Amino acid sequence: MSAIREFRIHRFGGAEVLQADDVEPSLPDASQVLVSVRAASVNPVDFKIRSGKYPAVKEDRLPYTLGRDVSGVVEKCGAQATAFKVGDEVFGMVGISGGGYAEKSVLDQKAIALKPAVLDYVHAAAVPLAGQTAWQGLFRHGQLKAGQSVLIHGGSGGVGHFAVQFAKAKGARVLTTVSTDNVAFARSLGADAVIDYKTQRFEDHASELDMVFDLIDGETRERSWALLKRGGVLVSTLTDPSQDKAKEHGVRAMRYTVEADGAELAEIAKLVTAGKVKPHVAKTFPLERASDALSDVEKGHSVGKVVLTVE
Ligand SMILES: NC(=O)c1ccc[n+]([C@@H]2O[C@H](COP(=O)([O-])OP(=O)(O)OC[C@H]3O[C@@H](n4cnc5c(N)ncnc54)[C@H](OP(=O)(O)O)[C@@H]3O)[C@@H](O)[C@H]2O)c1
Repeated sequence: MSAIREFRIHRFGGAEVLQADDVEPSLPDASQVLVSVRAASVNPVDFKIRSGKYPAVKEDRLPYTLGRDVSGVVEKCGAQATAFKVGDEVFGMVGISGGGYAEKSVLDQKAIALKPAVLDYVHAAAVPLAGQTAWQGLFRHGQLKAGQSVLIHGGSGGVGHFAVQFAKAKGARVLTTVSTDNVAFARSLGADAVIDYKTQRFEDHASELDMVFDLIDGETRERSWALLKRGGVLVSTLTDPSQDKAKEHGVRAMRYTVEADGAELAEIAKLVTAGKVKPHVAKTFPLERASDALSDVEKGHSVGKVVLTVE
């Protein structure tokens, strides 16, 4: 097979360590598929890995191709990867070994789903990691149910904009914090109450919550404990919440790491096809500008997602 372009790091550091390499593509193992990538999204985990601050990716994994989710066309199937066939249009989450910022990527068949026909490749690539993080936080860990209330901190970002839409689709009452510029965007996602964290104190607008979904951490989390009703739950994508604080407030609290799950992605695809959830892509960059795209996400002000396009 001819060489493909991948964006890799050979050492940890700043934007300067990400470089284009022409390499032989990996071949799929028995349960994997090789995908010809059409688009790949950028996530905060990518710059955390690049900087060496992500615990699961250490020196022994270098050189490392960044990128945790892709959309594209199945080009080759492993002997036992019978759930998909060559030519299928798919999307999915790349494993912790990375490989999304590339012309071809290998994914486990259990990590992918058929791309919803209503989405182009760019919008499909925006879904897997951020969408499943939102889904698992709300429903697997938070066990959010119809009629319950949830405060989503950071409702305008990659994970947050999915979380607002999923929680609404579930029938929950959704409150979310965003900055002034993103108030209209958060309303367009269907949030019942949008709190501008730049000008308002969210404590003045929320109480007796069933769930806090914390995508921000720090002071924002600390100010949120008292807003939960007893028996409520605080779920974080960031650091482990204090179990002492949880006990004090009579709530459950946890941090989790998203897991790839193709069956769940197919459930999300159904909501997308039904028009209940729309991935928002604020910016696209060609793969060649992967470093600029990553720097953009690193600023921490993404509205929805940033996606790389592969010609
Ligand atoms: N544990 C896991 O498996 C997992 C999975 C995915 C993501 N994560 C982590 O979860 C976090 C969110 O991910 P993401 O992809 O959604 O990030 P993102 O796309 O960069 O979005 C971050 C959002 O937070 C908003 N924000 C910043 N400060 C805020 C504040 N004080 N209150 C409310 N909103 C605020 C930003 O908008 P403004 O600046 O305009 O306010 C931006 O929209 C990241 O730290 C990421 O690493 C963890």
